[in-house]
Amino acid sequence: MNLKIAVLGGDGIGPEITQQSVKVLKAVADRFDHQFQFEEALVGAAAIDLMGNPLPEATLDLCKNSDAVLFGAIGDPKYDNDPEAKVRPEQGLLRLRKELGLFANIRPVKAYDKLIELSPLRPERIKGVDMVFYRELTGGIYFGEKSLSEDGTSATDTCTYSVEEIERIAHLAFKAAQQRRKKITLVDKANVLETSRLWRKTVTDLAKNYPDVELDFLFVDNAAMQMILNPKQFDVILTENMFGDILSDEASVISGSIGLLASASVGYGNALFEPIHGSYPQATGKGIANPVASILSAAMLLEHFNLTKEAESVRKSVELSIHLNVCTQDIDMDNHYSTEKVGDFLEGIISEIGHIRVNNENLNIGQMTII
Ligand code: IPM
Ligand code: MG
Repeated sequence: MNLKIAVLGGDGIGPEITQQSVKVLKAVADRFDHQFQFEEALVGAAAIDLMGNPLPEATLDLCKNSDAVLFGAIGDPKYDNDPEAKVRPEQGLLRLRKELGLFANIRPVKAYDKLIELSPLRPERIKGVDMVFYRELTGGIYFGEKSLSEDGTSATDTCTYSVEEIERIAHLAFKAAQQRRKKITLVDKANVLETSRLWRKTVTDLAKNYPDVELDFLFVDNAAMQMILNPKQFDVILTENMFGDILSDEASVISGSIGLLASASVGYGNALFEPIHGSYPQATGKGIANPVASILSAAMLLEHFNLTKEAESVRKSVELSIHLNVCTQDIDMDNHYSTEKVGDFLEGIISEIGHIRVNNENLNIGQMTII
């Protein structure tokens, strides 16, 4: 398969983790005989610094003319600490999502047996957790009208949803549920918000088309608690933009590190793949960031193009790295590898997969004993 992939490293640790995914995708292309072509472009604070625009037109054009976008991370403390800033890095990502029509953000969360002890939650609560978020991505309060009064003493953000916006993501969520444990939880705040009541009504009506899927509802405040108390109850979580943003970060504690969670943003045409974590500016350039969330996002990219065995080879290599403790310091503080070494290891495994038997004692990055 020929794929043109736009690579937008972005800010902070974004470029270094994305580089590892490119390496892994190149190994996949070599091994499975595909042609992947990569082209880099600027976005976020890096783009503001150079061109005064968090999403330069050339970047947008490249993304529109590519089959997929591999995205790193966005955000810079110099803007976080400046509420007056008129141009912000995050606007680049939000506009990109809107322009590409990426209305559904898919975020899988699962507990790795090997890492269960890393989570602050009790092992018996999280063992076997396997859920996926369907977060609406181009509507709601993040995209509604915003205003600040002349005297700066009051501000407004508007939350709007249309039936069409709700239906198109709900269809995707129901179809996903049909392939999984056939359960959807709609998370909303229908006891207070008009938009949430529209979500409930629309999703309830649409559910009639999917009689094999069980639909239930949770208010977002309760959902936040249930996520910690009993995360195993969830299969597919369908929710609006802001609730999905918040709850998916919360859910990341289940897997042991936010550095493991991947996402795919899809719409009618384009697709973008990015880790759920942020730009982690304190870690920039130190080689300590976990590249796995980005690499698993690359696996979702492969899956998106029906390259199932290719995606599986990436996931299997990640599982092996976790099993063998070839991990960054968020996973193993005492005995850790750098961002690049983890990338090298996964690249090596993929190149050799199919006939590997890793000899744990002799495991040495760069010169793996692969028989
Ligand atoms: C995410 C991020 C973004 C969002 C920010 C960086 C705009 O938090 O992808 O979850 O809020 O969607
Ligand atoms: Mg977020």
